[in-house]
Amino acid sequence: MLIDEFPIISLGFSLSFPNKITLKMSSEDPQKILEITKKIALKTGELQMEYYGKQINISLKGKRDLVTEVDKKCEQLIISEIHSIYPNHNILAEEGGGTHTEQEGFRWIIDPIDGTTNYAHNHPFFAVSIGVEKDGELIVGVIHAPYLKETFTAVKGQGAYLNDKKIHVSSTETIETSLLTTGFNPRIGDQNMPHFKHFIVNSRGIRRDGSAAIDLCYLACGRFDGYWEKGLMPWDMAAGALLLTEAGGKITLWDGSPFDVNGDELLATNGKIHQEMVEYFAALR
Ligand code: IPD
Ligand code: CA
Repeated sequence: MLIDEFPIISLGFSLSFPNKITLKMSSEDPQKILEITKKIALKTGELQMEYYGKQINISLKGKRDLVTEVDKKCEQLIISEIHSIYPNHNILAEEGGGTHTEQEGFRWIIDPIDGTTNYAHNHPFFAVSIGVEKDGELIVGVIHAPYLKETFTAVKGQGAYLNDKKIHVSSTETIETSLLTTGFNPRIGDQNMPHFKHFIVNSRGIRRDGSAAIDLCYLACGRFDGYWEKGLMPWDMAAGALLLTEAGGKITLWDGSPFDVNGDELLATNGKIHQEMVEYFAALR
């Protein structure tokens, strides 16, 4: 295991003693993983900005499911950075470059560009999203939106931050007074239309930003009050799910049962409007 020396405090001991205490911080300490993840995310953001607005190759993974050469470059960068420090960690990545070492323990869940369609159309709502799991539990999440100059970070049990300032979900009490968000994953066709139609006239409005990761961050910092979507993948949700819960929010399946990052749906709210949203979906069954 790699060990770093991490100076944390300076004490005025006599000259015969060292005047600096250094604590050993393991490279597998969540705080250290956060530092590393943040550095990788910032570097990836620089790469995204280098190509943003330029002529880039775009191909189709499905009828309306885009991938650009920059998604692939970003994924390669992230994976090589992780592997240079953690050669045995598992990696699950959107563009398929991940690795499975069979070793239990750590799994990095990566979306090199969340909001690829936005990115391909020069719309600034895109981000890199990196979540880290230990033994199946999310412990670190970083979502960095380089054009927006916003970096969201969280460590399990230590709160959520936007550009190093602590964030919290909104205190909105009802759907009627909420600003909501959702997504229309190409895999589920028009199945979301009835819900969209219902909530657009029963809330203050809906924004469709085109990035699940940013949607979860906006919910975490109180810009949105609720978010629902089906057809998602683990890399769309991992980092954002931790950010949201660390900011005081709630994330479940549409029926209110426990969220599963390996599943494909989420109902995410500030907590206060959660039951009202669960009741809406329950009434449809
Ligand atoms: C998509 C975005 C979008 C959501 C889709 C995702 P991608 O991810 O997060 O907001 O509605 O379900 O697939 O393709 O931009 O990485
Ligand atoms: Ca995505």
